[in-house]
Amino acid sequence: MLVTLAELLPRYLDKDAAVGAFNATTFADAEPIVTAAEKRGAPVIVQIGGWATAFMDIALWGALLREMAARASVPVCVHLDHATKVDDIQKAIDAGFSSVMIDGSQLPYDQNVAITRDVVARARKRGVSVEAEIGSVAYSGSASHKDVRSDPDETARFVRDTGVDAVAVAVGTLHRMERQASHIDFDLLARIGKAVPIPLVIHGSSGLVDEDIVNLRRTSVCKVNIGTALRIAFDRSLRQTLNENPDNYVTSLLLAKPKKAVEDVVLNKLGLLGF
Ligand code: G3H
Ligand code: ZN
Repeated sequence: MLVTLAELLPRYLDKDAAVGAFNATTFADAEPIVTAAEKRGAPVIVQIGGWATAFMDIALWGALLREMAARASVPVCVHLDHATKVDDIQKAIDAGFSSVMIDGSQLPYDQNVAITRDVVARARKRGVSVEAEIGSVAYSGSASHKDVRSDPDETARFVRDTGVDAVAVAVGTLHRMERQASHIDFDLLARIGKAVPIPLVIHGSSGLVDEDIVNLRRTSVCKVNIGTALRIAFDRSLRQTLNENPDNYVTSLLLAKPKKAVEDVVLNKLGLLGF
């Protein structure tokens, strides 16, 4: 069933679990995310960002993911990830996404608040949830995003100023890590959790060591974003499959093992997250 972030996340504020939010770039990696969640009886967030919308129109994504959610035996939130333009947010709202992230993290505080408030106003009218970011989670090997830890007081003020449903905080992770080597600053996270009454979101969780993913379950973090680990699993499997089947040209058959590889990673991460 389709759910919003606002319906889903607060249930996990006091539970020994957090919801996995997995990035898809095509149908082939979207479907195994939901399959894995159904196998575990776990709620799940399927999220798409720029690579996905470059591959397929956002309206088609909305129709596809909503249908997958409607058919699923578990709660599925259909989320637009890291949007920086209000136009893209509006397209996602019109396409039936149940949740959107406006990423104003690279803007000065007042501009981040202004764009986030605009998105909250648009989303509220349509019953759509909003995630925003304060502080900045950087990207491995790229200077495109700042690396700025979130400040507890500023995060609390940002939540009050914007009325968002969930807030992404920078507490030690880095996007697009290909190895699990980063650690959460749990002391900072606890101080943010005390100051902020709403669910927190961790980005860049592919790089987190397993122990820290497990330890997030008992914090105010309710949404854990994982993308790179899935893409690595899919692409490694696809390359291997193509090498092993040089005369097979049936794309749907060639995608079976990569899909399974994504499913396995999601199953593993869901286990760490308490499902
Ligand atoms: O917004 C998406 C996530 O933060 C995914 O990050 O690709 O480093 O796991 P990751
Ligand atoms: Zn992210």
